[in-house]
Amino acid sequence: MTKLKLGFLASHGGSNMQAIIDAINSGDLDAEACVVVSNNSESKALERAEKEGIPAFHMSSAAYPDSDELDRAIAMTMIEHNCDLVILAGYMKKIGVAVLRLFKGRILNIHPALLPKYGGKGMYGNNVHKAVIAAGDKESGPTIHVVDAVYDNGKILSQSKVPVLEDDTFETLAARVLEQEHILYAKTLQEIVDGNIKL
Ligand code: GRF
Repeated sequence: MTKLKLGFLASHGGSNMQAIIDAINSGDLDAEACVVVSNNSESKALERAEKEGIPAFHMSSAAYPDSDELDRAIAMTMIEHNCDLVILAGYMKKIGVAVLRLFKGRILNIHPALLPKYGGKGMYGNNVHKAVIAAGDKESGPTIHVVDAVYDNGKILSQSKVPVLEDDTFETLAARVLEQEHILYAKTLQEIVDGNIKL
């Protein structure tokens, strides 16, 4: 069987990307990591990719001042590396129309809250966990969803829940959610491979 080919977009630590690569390396996920693109030259994701022998590219407004051109270059990179899916793993930029059109329904993102709650513009990283704590919610957890033109709006594919504890700070909650993110992303991708989740 041909493996599901993954192209990653990541901006910072790339720990979600690493968890997916680890699942591939251990045989828990029947997929192949084909390429990694980051808008941030300092991203640990690029370093991780190089260590794993995965082609890695820094692509940002530094080389592509026109954002449509940048978007087209990213789309072409994904196509040239035969990606079936584009995996957003902590990618802090909005996806442009070329990538959206060419990979319609085949771009996935992980969000660190139980969407549709705590999504939308400005709801990223610690802002999400601070909002969950401020609202007094009793549970939180990651969501994997399909990406469309609106932030955090596409079809929800999977979620997992963690408790929000009385004495949680946004840091302790973020760490608990991140631990689940690392499990959920690879698991969801394997469900797609197995045909249990349809895109
Ligand atoms: C994660 O919390 C993810 O939910 C969010 O950005 C963070 C990325 O972490 N979209 P990492 O870069 O995968 O370590």
